[in-house]
Amino acid sequence: MEKIAIVTGAGGGLGSVIARELAADGYRLVLADRDAAAAEAAATTVEGSPVVVPADLTDAGEAQRLVDEVARRFGRLDVVVNSAGIERVHPLETTPEPDWDATMDVNVKAPMLLCRAAVPLWCEQGSGSVVNISSRAWLGGSANTSYASSKAALVGLTVSMAVELGPLGVRANAVAPSFVRTPFNQQRTDIADLDRMIERYTAFTPLRRLIEPIDVANAVVFLASDRARNITGEVLHVCAGAQLPPIP
Ligand SMILES: NC(=O)c1ccc[n+]([C@@H]2O[C@H](COP(=O)([O-])OP(=O)(O)OC[C@H]3O[C@@H](n4cnc5c(N)ncnc54)[C@H](O)[C@@H]3O)[C@@H](O)[C@H]2O)c1
Repeated sequence: MEKIAIVTGAGGGLGSVIARELAADGYRLVLADRDAAAAEAAATTVEGSPVVVPADLTDAGEAQRLVDEVARRFGRLDVVVNSAGIERVHPLETTPEPDWDATMDVNVKAPMLLCRAAVPLWCEQGSGSVVNISSRAWLGGSANTSYASSKAALVGLTVSMAVELGPLGVRANAVAPSFVRTPFNQQRTDIADLDRMIERYTAFTPLRRLIEPIDVANAVVFLASDRARNITGEVLHVCAGAQLPPIP
C-alpha cells in the first residue's frame, strides 16, 4: 500500500529536503507551498512522481482543498509535516500587530487548519502521523517575540493533538531545529553580517557546529515512521545542543 505524505512549505530550504527524504523512505509526496515555482523546483529533487499543490495554507478553504485533493487522488493521508513558516523580526516593544498576526497565521493557524481538515480521513483509516516544525526559539525565546510565541504555540498544538487524536491512532510530534542556513535566514534584514552571526552562534553551541537541513529531515522521517509508533507529544530538539545554554 502506497503511503501518502503532505509537506507544507515544501519549496523551502528545510521543506524541500524533508520531502526528498520522506520520498526516499517510500512515501508518495504532496508538496504544498504558496510559492508554486519553489514547490515545482523542489519536486524535481523528489523521487516517485510527487504532486504539487500551490496553496496559501492560512486560508481554511485552501487547506480543505489540499486535503480534498489528497483524498480524491489517494483516499488516504499518512503523514503531515507542517514546515511552512515565517519570521518577522522585532523586539516586543516595537512589534507591529500585522506582523504578529501574520506570524501566528502561518506558524500556528495554518497547521491547525490543515490537521483539522484531515481528521475525517484519519478517523476512517485509524492512523496518521503529524510532525510540526517548531524551533529552538520555543524554549529559549529570542529577541523576536512573535516568532518565539508562535513556535511555543505550535508545541501546544502538537501536544493537544497528541492527546486528542491519540485514541484515533494518530500521533503528533514536533521537531525544534536551531539555526540552519536556508533562505529563511539569508533574507533577514536584521542580521548585518550573517557569517559573523553564525560564528557567534556556533561558539555557544555545545557541539560547536551548525545543524543542516538533512539533520532536520532525518528526525522528521523517524518521527513520521512506524519506528516511532509509540512516540507522541514529544519535541525533538535538533540543535547540536544549542537548546541547552542561553544565547550569550
Ligand atoms: N531555517 C532555520 O534556521 C530554522 C530554524 C528553526 C526552525 N525553522 C522553521 O522551519 C520551517 C522551514 O524553514 P525553512 O528554513 O525551510 O524556511 P524557508 O523560508 O526556506 O521556507 C518556508 C516555506 O514556507 C512557505 N510558506 C510561507 N507561508 C506560507 C503559507 N501561508 N502557505 C503555504 N506556504 C507558505 C514559503 O513559500 C517557503 O517556501 C519554518 O517553520 C521555520 O520557522 C527554521
